[in-house]
Amino acid sequence: EKGGYEHFMLKEIHEQPKAVQDTIGAYVKDGHVDLSETGLTDEKLASLKRIYIVACGSAYHVGMVGKYVIESMAGIPVEVDVASEFRYRNPILAEDSMVVIISQSGETADSLAALRLAKERNVPVLSVVNVVGSSIARESDYTLYTYAGPEISVATTKAYSTQLIAMYLLSIQSAFVQGKLEESCVSELLAEMETLPDKISKVLDDKERIQWFASKYANAHDIFFIGRGIDYAISMEGSLKMKEISYIHSEAYAAGELKHGTISLVEDGTLVIGVMTQKDLFEKTLSNMVEVKSRGAYLMGLTSYGNYSIEDTADFSVYVPKTEKYFTTSLAIVPLQLMGYYVSVAKGLDVDKPRNLAKSVTVE
Ligand code: F6R
Repeated sequence: EKGGYEHFMLKEIHEQPKAVQDTIGAYVKDGHVDLSETGLTDEKLASLKRIYIVACGSAYHVGMVGKYVIESMAGIPVEVDVASEFRYRNPILAEDSMVVIISQSGETADSLAALRLAKERNVPVLSVVNVVGSSIARESDYTLYTYAGPEISVATTKAYSTQLIAMYLLSIQSAFVQGKLEESCVSELLAEMETLPDKISKVLDDKERIQWFASKYANAHDIFFIGRGIDYAISMEGSLKMKEISYIHSEAYAAGELKHGTISLVEDGTLVIGVMTQKDLFEKTLSNMVEVKSRGAYLMGLTSYGNYSIEDTADFSVYVPKTEKYFTTSLAIVPLQLMGYYVSVAKGLDVDKPRNLAKSVTVE
């Protein structure tokens, strides 16, 4: 049942090209985004003035990526909340808005409660759900199913990757119907999106190097992930993957925040992973890498092919194929999933069933 892989997590990491391809295939038809299966109409998307994305854990990190992508591509303001905060903060929900609930299981208690709150306030709800017929799918106005297939490992990988595709699709179609994207740009973006499965496979080809590096850090006490913009959102997910299955304390920081406190935690040999896929922010994050290096940090840099100047600063570099700036998460997350996985394996831990965690969190 593990298809020859040692753990479900590794199997599911390798299923990402197919999961991503299946999700794209369900909603991209003849060079256009077709969301009719979800019930969402172009009229509805055209009327949207604000979007609230609400989710827990990794799905929340997808929402963070969604915010960057939708705001910069479609120009629609997006707020992102963890569901357990949203439901108790008496959120102000604007007119012509939509709540987007992201959930692999479709059963997460706080996310379901957030959905019900939105409905009580008469705000339409789009859910992005992997499990067909789950509570969140049934109670939403519109459901965009992800096609990851069953995910067994507690730490999400392939569902996360398909949720990212859902964000891109929502963003592209909203931008198009709101007149922010020309049809030719839509075609270009979709054509690039369709290359992601192959590019993810290319990243997976690099796994032995990552395994070698990860096994050196099995005894680390702290690991820091830094990035800016989308790279910060990637850092958050990379850090969660690391801590939940390796039990190593890790934190993600917006790179510019380091010097406001956190940098005092950096000591000789502390591993700092800099995520630097965004061209316009590369130099900024690089300067933060230089800062932590001078405090003794050991640096791993994660960037795109071509940015080889990273090697002047980073002690270990990982490259992912080039893609459209909005889509870099789909590639950069893969080495970080593998890092968490191989550190956990090197420590001999129960990768698929980390302590204290459940696959579906149905209590608040
Ligand atoms: C982390 C992880 C969790 C889930 C979270 C939400 O690897 O899997 O953080 O993302 O519990 O679960 P769903 O998506 O089922 O609502």
